[in-house]
Amino acid sequence: MKKIAVIGSNMVDLVTYTDRMPIQGETLEAGNFDLGFGGKGANQAIAAAKLGAEVLMLSKVGDDMFGPNTKENFINNGIDARYVETAPGISSGVAPIFVDSSGQNGILIIKGANNHLSCADVDRAIDDIRACDLIVTQLEISLETVYHVIELGVRENIPVLLNPAPAVAGLDMDKIRLLDMLVPNETELAILTGLPVDTEEQIAAAAKYLVGQGVKKVIVTMGSKGALLVTAGEMTLIPCPEVDAKDTSGAGDAFIGCFAKHYVENGELIPAVQQAVTYASLSTTKPGTQKSYADIDQFDAYKKSL
Ligand code: RIB
Repeated sequence: MKKIAVIGSNMVDLVTYTDRMPIQGETLEAGNFDLGFGGKGANQAIAAAKLGAEVLMLSKVGDDMFGPNTKENFINNGIDARYVETAPGISSGVAPIFVDSSGQNGILIIKGANNHLSCADVDRAIDDIRACDLIVTQLEISLETVYHVIELGVRENIPVLLNPAPAVAGLDMDKIRLLDMLVPNETELAILTGLPVDTEEQIAAAAKYLVGQGVKKVIVTMGSKGALLVTAGEMTLIPCPEVDAKDTSGAGDAFIGCFAKHYVENGELIPAVQQAVTYASLSTTKPGTQKSYADIDQFDAYKKSL
């Protein structure tokens, strides 16, 4: 069976559902609160595992009450969590998330232990990473470690997928160009390239620019508009099923986890993106990040209902 290594973050999500954000100095009562496992790396790993992928997770949890629960959550979802380790004396990553009545979200992140996932931690897992067919990473860990992972992928001939989230300006293009796959949303694409992304033509031009720099495949996630796949030889817009979105947080991670699972299985890009837009759309119909991810049976039932 093909295997995916996720080298990335975990967070505890503190989700507040509110009609609107308070203005400065205002105290406002919000409707609801929920606590859940999150973090872009963890979300992507859990989505892939829920769909039946074999996943190896490298991550750092905090030296607090969230740490052991987070590791247990990986194990409960069938993920190989031998390299989910505790950063002594450091707090867990946490993410206060605000979801408004239209389902749109705003997220703050405190990286905590995630900043301590080091190049040496990655190197210690090299024999297990070598057994993987795809490496997935994001920008909620230190940039030094992300660049190290990209170079490792090239050296070991394992494709690396980077989700450049949260967006960081001034990424080293000499590292980015080595990527097999880059999966930004529109905002991340704009920050990465410095190009406008207000229209589909502009999005396509910005994605093509990255391909011109050397990235083999760029997949731009565009929410309810679907996803745009750009390689040197093709450009395809893959539409998304129409849904009544309740909470879009974690939908991008659902996309990547599902894409990774299907892509490693058969190596076909367009069918994997089709599965991913569908899975991500389903996740927006339920509250929470990981909590909103369907397992393989629920996903099959959803696809049949479309
Ligand atoms: O992409 C959604 C995720 O971003 C949340 O789970 C939160 O933890 C932040 O990392």
